[in-house]
Amino acid sequence: MELEELKRLAVGMLERAYCPYSHFPVGAALECADGSVYTGCNIENASYPVGTCAERTAVSTAVSEGKKHFVRIVIAAKTEKPCVPCGMCRQFMHEFSPDMEVICLSQSGEERRFALRELLPHGFEGSSLDCCK
Ligand code: THU
Repeated sequence: MELEELKRLAVGMLERAYCPYSHFPVGAALECADGSVYTGCNIENASYPVGTCAERTAVSTAVSEGKKHFVRIVIAAKTEKPCVPCGMCRQFMHEFSPDMEVICLSQSGEERRFALRELLPHGFEGSSLDCCK
């Protein structure tokens, strides 16, 4: 998919965000290695820690559909500067595709691009658990 279309999908997901507590909508569009695309939005909860971010919604949807290899994700927010993913989402994405690209958008469309490895160097991974087998 063209990057512009992926961006359009991420921005479109701002409408679906459920964020009555923070009033901070976030949308995401995730491109898989096979070319399929999954979207997500943040979903908050009255019990605040139960809420989840747009990135994890998109990745969870993809994984639940059998996709585990990701090329890039676009994250859109109504912010002045491009919205970068939180630490939990960085780790969540690292589990599946540590070499994916992360493209962050501001409300005006200003863009910042990162390699996930740049955002999360030395991420924790399954092999880290090998010593305890
Ligand atoms: N949020 C995301 O969905 N993605 C991010 O990258 C940053 C934060 C959400 C979580 C919460 O619903 C709201 O934004 C405020 O933190």
